[in-house]
Amino acid sequence: MQDLEGDLVSNASDNASLHDLIALGVGRRQFLRAGIAGAVAALPGVGLLAGCASESLVTGPTLGFAAIPPSTADRVVVPPGYRAQVLYRWGDPVGAAAGSPAFKPDAANTADEQALQAGMHHDAIEYFPLPRGSRSAARGLLAINHEYTDDGLLHSDGLKTWSAEKVRKSQAAHGVSVVEVEGTGAQWRVVRPSAYARRITASTPMRIAGPVAGTDYVRTGADPAGTTVLGTLNNCAGGRTPWGTYLTCEENFNGYFAGGPTITAAMGRYGIRRGGWGYRWHEHDPRFDMTVEPNEPNRFGWVIEIDPYDSRSTPVKRTALGRFKHEGAMLTLAADGRVVVYSGDDERFEYLYKFVSRDRYDASDRAANRDLLDHGTLYVARFAGDGTGEWRALRHGDRGLAGADGFESQADVLVRTRMAADALGATKMDRPEWVAVHPRTKEVYCALTNNTLRGGAGHPPTDAANPRANNVFGHIVRWREAGNDPAATRFAWDIFVLAGDPASPDPEKRGTVKGDGFGSPDGLRFDERGVLWIQTDVSASVLNKGEYAGLGNNQLLAANVATGETRRFLVGPVNCELTGIAFTPDARTLFVNIQHPGETPSERSDPANPRQWSNWPDFDPGGRPRSGTVAVTKDDGGVIGS
Ligand code: FEO
Ligand code: CA
Ligand code: CA
Repeated sequence: MQDLEGDLVSNASDNASLHDLIALGVGRRQFLRAGIAGAVAALPGVGLLAGCASESLVTGPTLGFAAIPPSTADRVVVPPGYRAQVLYRWGDPVGAAAGSPAFKPDAANTADEQALQAGMHHDAIEYFPLPRGSRSAARGLLAINHEYTDDGLLHSDGLKTWSAEKVRKSQAAHGVSVVEVEGTGAQWRVVRPSAYARRITASTPMRIAGPVAGTDYVRTGADPAGTTVLGTLNNCAGGRTPWGTYLTCEENFNGYFAGGPTITAAMGRYGIRRGGWGYRWHEHDPRFDMTVEPNEPNRFGWVIEIDPYDSRSTPVKRTALGRFKHEGAMLTLAADGRVVVYSGDDERFEYLYKFVSRDRYDASDRAANRDLLDHGTLYVARFAGDGTGEWRALRHGDRGLAGADGFESQADVLVRTRMAADALGATKMDRPEWVAVHPRTKEVYCALTNNTLRGGAGHPPTDAANPRANNVFGHIVRWREAGNDPAATRFAWDIFVLAGDPASPDPEKRGTVKGDGFGSPDGLRFDERGVLWIQTDVSASVLNKGEYAGLGNNQLLAANVATGETRRFLVGPVNCELTGIAFTPDARTLFVNIQHPGETPSERSDPANPRQWSNWPDFDPGGRPRSGTVAVTKDDGGVIGS
């Protein structure tokens, strides 16, 4: 997460808070708030976990490791009996060809070299077995997001001078890596060269697909057809499809654009400002100067589908999933085989969405699923105070979204997704981050990382789903779709956990955590056993201070959602954030991304003192901290966390 504008709030809509909402009149309240756990246990056919008869959904999966204490060390700490191996760091060659350029610790690599190396600031990660269609846990592809750049680290002299070459290097350090990896026992390595390996950057051509493709909103001087865009940026969380493609999500895309004669209401609603966020790309690349290309920002803020098994494939921006600061794209299947994608919009007081495809997934024909994400309905969540909720369709022509309401077309609704959701009275959440779906119960969990502005002067008050003012610790909300069908338009919800110390004297800080304490949940993922893995993103400015004193560096915890117990599994190096998480199909290797070790509280490093906070993972006296992918294995070869 990059949070350069600490006080940023783009949502000035006057949606009523839940305190003001009338009960929604849900017809069949099958799942009342207090009844979620009971409903789960009562579901036919899911009383016992497959292949693990001792672990029922009532007692939950066994957490078989010893919890580790909070750590402030500049290293990755894992429980006894586990090892963590650094696999793929910023600057490591992706391995697309023999003789790829090596990383230069003084950041002297050129832009062209950077385009053949791992980008900066690893975020989402997914593992794709090789060969495709297998469940190989020994050979596969890792798709890895590179969210943003810290230009103080990226260039030898930081931003002291500025040039087109530096812009190109920054653009080349964004995007996605696909690398081939191979595991022998506990030892993982990146396979180089590999025909699969590729870098996708902020300059890689991609196709725009779905309702927005070819419309006036996305036409530019360089692309008058509005069908081809160069690159992807601020790739935060992601997801995967059952047909073996990777979904990468554009989050804080607004910060890269600057200039412009006018900041329209639609631009303002996305936090786009004349000054940008200091990337300075617009000074040398007119695409990012809104005076030259006012439509270019409309071409970002999407979910992109990438086929990792074909290094020559063109990535596709799937506009049917809406345009916002997509944190992730968690895909599951509806009862009838339609595809459902959950996605949070990570900003204070923004919304939670889901997309339901028109057509069904075909497990027997990969090509038939190629355009599944182009046709369907996007919904936004409204949480009621009685524990029920509703998914409201963002459909042009419906009440609030018709021509008379100022929406010209479905393309307009999608380009201005946030404004359409405002019109539907969606619930303003405390920064929706990752969504995770329980592999058997289908219960859905969403991390709401924090929102210190909640309840503050001039900001929305608390509501049932966001119940704490000055929410410094965040919480995790969960819901069950009506009929247990992910495509349903009604749901029942409750709060899984309020992060924070249960003993806190301050009711707004008091948590409901059972076990090891944490705050600012961000990444969430269920493993096959039904363990919920929680990653934290406490910003460097508050880490280990104030309310966060004693909680140590950012961490990864395992939670038993049946009992509510959380147990600390991994702690990262100084001032890092735990970002992506993925497992091999046998659950015996965990890949986890360490983002921005040594981040300064200002979020921009001093090139004269790049090791001020951290020198992980190389501890090279002439080097600089590097984001990296870590492979975690158990010494006895067992399932992670068992
Ligand atoms: Fe890039 Fe919302 O974290
Ligand atoms: Ca995140
Ligand atoms: Ca975050």
